[in-house]
Amino acid sequence: MIALGCDHGGLNLKTAIIKYLEENNIEYKDFGCYTEDSVDYPTIAYPVATAVANGEFESGILCCGTGIGISIAANKVKGIRAAVVSNEFGAEMTRRHNNANILCMGGRVTSEADAVKFADIFLNTPFSSDEERHTRRVQMLSDIENGTFDI
Ligand code: RB5
Repeated sequence: MIALGCDHGGLNLKTAIIKYLEENNIEYKDFGCYTEDSVDYPTIAYPVATAVANGEFESGILCCGTGIGISIAANKVKGIRAAVVSNEFGAEMTRRHNNANILCMGGRVTSEADAVKFADIFLNTPFSSDEERHTRRVQMLSDIENGTFDI
């Protein structure tokens, strides 16, 4: 189950991603927004990121104008690794190497077709959990978050 959210700058991408999810029978919950009226991206990022961090959803997809603001907001929630992606390689690597749990994209910088492609790659790529260096690095991210990081 995927948690979705956007602000007005990312509504077009979220709409395209919903079409892709429905065509592929992938369950999702849409946390808004639903119109092009201006909305503050943290108000969307926070409930989506919290629901993913709580384990209610496997992963999330958030879209704003650039993908940046909404990713910064999501990354403030403990347990979230939100990545702004703008190419196929990034979509794959942020799953394989960073175990990203939220994909972020920007409706003013990424086409709808590309966003669907990146979402498809993101949702179908596993974390390289058998490669110790990646689990070690992702653990370090948690350590930074928890204030226990010791270089
Ligand atoms: C909204 O105009 C815009 O600032 C927002 O969508 C996003 O791009 C922020 O990072």
